[in-house]
Amino acid sequence: MTAQGIILRYISFFEARGHKRIPNSPLVPENDPTTLFTSAGMQPLVPYLLGEHHPEGKKLTNVQNCFRAQDIDEIGDNHHNTFFRMLGNWSLGDYFKKEEIPWLWEFLTEELKLPKDKLYITIFSGYKDIGYDKEAQDLWKKVFEKENLEPKIFVDETNWWSRSGPPDNMPAGEPGGPDTEVYFRFDDLEHNSNCGGDDPAKCKCGKFLEIANSVFIQYKKTDSGIEELSQKNVDFGGGLERLLAAVENNSDIFQTSLFAPIIKSIEEVSNKEYSANQESMRIIADHFTAATFIANAKIKPSNKEQGYILRRLIRRGLDNSYKLGGAHSTSSGQANIEPVLQAIANQYDQTDPEIKQNFVEIKNTIIEEEQGYKGTLNEAKKLIAKRYKLGDELKGVTEITADDAFLLYTTHGLSPTQIRSLGFTFDGLDFADKMEEHQKVSRAGAGKKFAGGLADTSEATIMGHTATHLMHQAIRDILG
Ligand code: ALA
Repeated sequence: MTAQGIILRYISFFEARGHKRIPNSPLVPENDPTTLFTSAGMQPLVPYLLGEHHPEGKKLTNVQNCFRAQDIDEIGDNHHNTFFRMLGNWSLGDYFKKEEIPWLWEFLTEELKLPKDKLYITIFSGYKDIGYDKEAQDLWKKVFEKENLEPKIFVDETNWWSRSGPPDNMPAGEPGGPDTEVYFRFDDLEHNSNCGGDDPAKCKCGKFLEIANSVFIQYKKTDSGIEELSQKNVDFGGGLERLLAAVENNSDIFQTSLFAPIIKSIEEVSNKEYSANQESMRIIADHFTAATFIANAKIKPSNKEQGYILRRLIRRGLDNSYKLGGAHSTSSGQANIEPVLQAIANQYDQTDPEIKQNFVEIKNTIIEEEQGYKGTLNEAKKLIAKRYKLGDELKGVTEITADDAFLLYTTHGLSPTQIRSLGFTFDGLDFADKMEEHQKVSRAGAGKKFAGGLADTSEATIMGHTATHLMHQAIRDILG
């Protein structure tokens, strides 16, 4: 079953249960200055979760393209993507837990035919006056009893979902609620030494993969705490790429039928094997896929907001292409990324045909950014060569001051890794101190615009190269 096959089954399953299909909302939200990207299926539906009447009724289903900027630094493992598709079914004050939980089980086990013994459940442990989710636990117990299976239900404090995370982080007015998550167990993997082990919510190594999340949005944050909404909603999100990994029983989403052809194109242009270069190839596949969809939304690389994120994705993708080496095969010495972009367009053709229609424009946006990036790297090199009276050509590695490295960071937007790749070394701890100082200043500025601070609208996603996540990444880079 392909990704497209999963979509078709999912939509018809919920249409047969009285849901109306609604279209995918734009990746860059219209008329919503508080957020840069659609990062969850619920985002365009917030007014209806809060009680507004939806023209299509109270039971909806959709497939939403999502981008999570806050996950950029996670990319490289076997299960994270920044760009992904989320399958959604929605109850806007209509059905609730007793319908949702058995439907979800039926969809996963009857429609997708996932082996029942590999599915694990987590439920919410409670928060202040809100007790643990006994109702969900009882409903899941019934499901397992009916199947004659030992229940695998774990209670966890992280099973609460809102756009801004746990209840304490939610701004007043924000809806959210307890959730119940389904995890798939991959038997080819053993937990590694950093992993939390057999409780799926604690496992971090990828042996247990969260494939589905039903959020029971029945609360709203207020200035004084949490209050019940006027209606009880269901917000289901199923990550399509992860569901496909479970259906194909492949613990590496980059080796599923969706991503394998993209990885193959990277192997071909670089003349390197995936098995020895997994992290770089995953970053390239993920970042150029995300960049393709963001460029398709008519965003151009720049130093602010969505444009900054697009720039960062392209440059990080390029850094990893350069690292692989063989990619420098065009006559101008640039990375040969066009076949990779073409492979991406092919893979999304059935679901997002506009990617192929707009391919030339998307490709040009990415290639122009590469030209600019090459220029920036050259300028940075020249600036340092001048200061240190080096010749035009740098030979070997040159030690520069942390001040000068930081100058390249602030003026040229280069991360420590990029500065090092130019052949410069510097005192990493000194650089980290300067970074933290700089972060304090930029936080004060960013806080003003996004005081509401939803998950992907914190200062992490804005303000050009003062973005906090870049700082954290850079500090990690330095400290190794
Ligand atoms: N809104 C929930 C999520 O994004 C389903 O995980």
